[in-house]
Amino acid sequence: MNSQIPKTFHVKSFGCQMNVYDGARMTELLEAEGMKASADVGAADLVVLNTCHIRERAVDKIYSDIGRLRRDDGSRPMIAVAGCVAQAEGGEIPRRAPIVDIVVGPQAYHRLPELVAKAGRGEPALDTDMPIESKFGELPARRRQGPSAFLTIQEGCDKFCTYCVVPYTRGAEVSRGWSAILDEARALIDLGAKEITLLGQNVNAWTGEDEAGRIQGMDGLARALDRLNGLERIRYMTSHPSDMTDGLIRAHAEVEKLMPFLHLPVQSGNDRVLKAMNRSHAIHDYLDIIDRVRAARPDIAISGDFIVGFPGEKDSEFEDTLKIVEAVNYAQAYSFKYSPRPGTPAADMDEQVPAELMDERLQRLQALINQQQLEFNQAIVGRRTSVLLERQGKKPGQLIGKTPWLQSVHLETTAVVGDMVEVEILSAGPNSLAGAEFMKDAA
Ligand code: 5AD
Ligand code: SF4
Repeated sequence: MNSQIPKTFHVKSFGCQMNVYDGARMTELLEAEGMKASADVGAADLVVLNTCHIRERAVDKIYSDIGRLRRDDGSRPMIAVAGCVAQAEGGEIPRRAPIVDIVVGPQAYHRLPELVAKAGRGEPALDTDMPIESKFGELPARRRQGPSAFLTIQEGCDKFCTYCVVPYTRGAEVSRGWSAILDEARALIDLGAKEITLLGQNVNAWTGEDEAGRIQGMDGLARALDRLNGLERIRYMTSHPSDMTDGLIRAHAEVEKLMPFLHLPVQSGNDRVLKAMNRSHAIHDYLDIIDRVRAARPDIAISGDFIVGFPGEKDSEFEDTLKIVEAVNYAQAYSFKYSPRPGTPAADMDEQVPAELMDERLQRLQALINQQQLEFNQAIVGRRTSVLLERQGKKPGQLIGKTPWLQSVHLETTAVVGDMVEVEILSAGPNSLAGAEFMKDAA
């Protein structure tokens, strides 16, 4: 056991953007306790692994990462496992990996300082509670932010898709309050954020009362954020087709700062499979939403998630997934092999699809998606667009930023991170674009 209070720490986040957000909040919390963030995982006194449980490979990786924290001289840092693996596996983690000192779930990390103190005294430190009072009220004010910020507005899920662990690891669907969200948005803007991405497992299910007591949805929130000076771009993810309201679709036509991008996973292109997944919507519902969103905002980039090899998925049903990809024409999409997750209904279903067949389906799907991504990116070559510069590139003088359609662009520029610049797009690959800053006075 590690018997000292750490002076330095390193937080490593895996998985989704919400984990990135949680990692940032844990960092601020530990800093508020007087600890210093260290970029070097090999030198930090405390290492927090903020984990993802969505697919099996992610979980295996955590255990190998824990093993690697042992240092050459035989020492090791204090080790905390946070995030969704912590929630799902709880006390199993220190049993399987006894060098772990702290286990803390995604709804309990505001108690990290107490857990660190306990671990420092050599006591077991495990907290996977889902307390009624929200962690958000207990966390210190935001203190650091780059140009593009994440802001969690909704957490958890009540949909219970049969393959998914999220309802078990993140808990029931909860919306944060209107003024807490707007206060945090203002704080992020004061710290330099020009873009805010609203996060939630079902972000478009967000609901709350505004300051006048009116019931609002995500569209109302987007309209309120649109009025904040200093903020230039609003994004949100991940959305569920069943919560895609007319108001939100209309917002894409009317709210100036709302970016033309929609991440709307459908998972499969076949109605029988969707039903077995307990997805509460059919293919025609999904296509209808896409049509209406495109009518509201013709240039909108559509993004999605797909699972291949869900138990019982037949060849013809997989072909339907290729057909929906053809029909929608995605700007980008993520695709995954089905991974049985302990405790979920699909894990016990008959007819698990053999690994080789899943590989073959994934390759075919990814080839199609890559081609669509490339075509989407190529369509912007030769045009000018605004780019928010987010970080340094690999080459000197090179910066990397994003277009309104969430494409990564690299360019050489004398502008600095945080600037919004006009860029002419010169060339495109499937995953990024090359651009040059547009000079108005150039001959
Ligand atoms: N197996 C494979 N992919 C999954 N996802 C969620 N659960 C699983 C699983 N058990 C995918 C879905 C979801 C994305 C975040 O991860 O496509 O939208
Ligand atoms: Fe998981 Fe389905 Fe909820 Fe998304 S909607 S988090 S896939 S259960």
